[in-house]
Amino acid sequence: MITVIGNANIDLIAQADTFPLQGETVRGKDFQTAPGGKGANQAVACAKLGHKVQLIGTTGTDSFGEMIVANLRKQQVDTSYITQVEGPSGVAVILLMEGDNRIISIPGANHALSLERMKELKSIIGASQLVMMQLELPVDTVWYVLKLCKDLEVPIIMDPAPSTSFQMEYMPYVRYLTPNETECAQLFGISIEETVTNYPNQLLVTLGKDGVCYHDHEEIIFVPGVPAQVVDTTGAGDTFNGALASRLVQGSDLQSAVEFANVAASLSVGKFGAQGGMPTMLEVGKKAENLANENK
Ligand code: RIB
Repeated sequence: MITVIGNANIDLIAQADTFPLQGETVRGKDFQTAPGGKGANQAVACAKLGHKVQLIGTTGTDSFGEMIVANLRKQQVDTSYITQVEGPSGVAVILLMEGDNRIISIPGANHALSLERMKELKSIIGASQLVMMQLELPVDTVWYVLKLCKDLEVPIIMDPAPSTSFQMEYMPYVRYLTPNETECAQLFGISIEETVTNYPNQLLVTLGKDGVCYHDHEEIIFVPGVPAQVVDTTGAGDTFNGALASRLVQGSDLQSAVEFANVAASLSVGKFGAQGGMPTMLEVGKKAENLANENK
């Protein structure tokens, strides 16, 4: 079982031809709501690929909370450890322009995912094959999980987003850290090549359409990106993380897991919404086969 500890949101998505400048109003083209939140997205990505996954999270007492849980159940995510707390659920306001996005995530109930709750779920977390975590959570919760998983030898994949919540002291506790290019620059302040060399087989930098870069203890590896029809890049990183986790727990080596996750992420950007384009195992297999045939 993979355990995702993280936020669940409802995304409020406004589409326009341009992002507004400071103080400017631009005319929008469309508005939609969709399930999101990095934690929920990662869990759905694993479930769609056929892996058993549970989300430890919190929702509010509003109608968004019901929508979040109903969607997770529909997607076959185990919701046994999602609790409801008084007040609003997490929401993210997403501005979408030509497939690219800007996101403001408002924690709401996600902020109640407390250290005490982690203590209550200690044995559940400890029995996991792998834990996935992002940083839209209270800091003491993150620290508790990191230390617990280190003690119990449960590997953690951490997506350091938002990067402002990352602490360099997390590194020895994390099995894989998966920043994107921007987060990597914000966190380490040196070139990607230098950074991955400092953290071999631990730091996987996602480069969007250019793939993924890491160091395998001998050399820098660039796993090339997979061509995609981009509709919406929201959730591509979450799909990458979910697919990576589901391959790693099945015993894949790192390079094959990254290649698989790249294909999954490339499919996820083809449809609208963070979870809308997340692929099934069959879809990833089909695309991987097509790519292999093209490269013959
Ligand atoms: O990674 C994308 C997600 O970040 C969105 O679904 C939004 O809810 C924020 O958490």
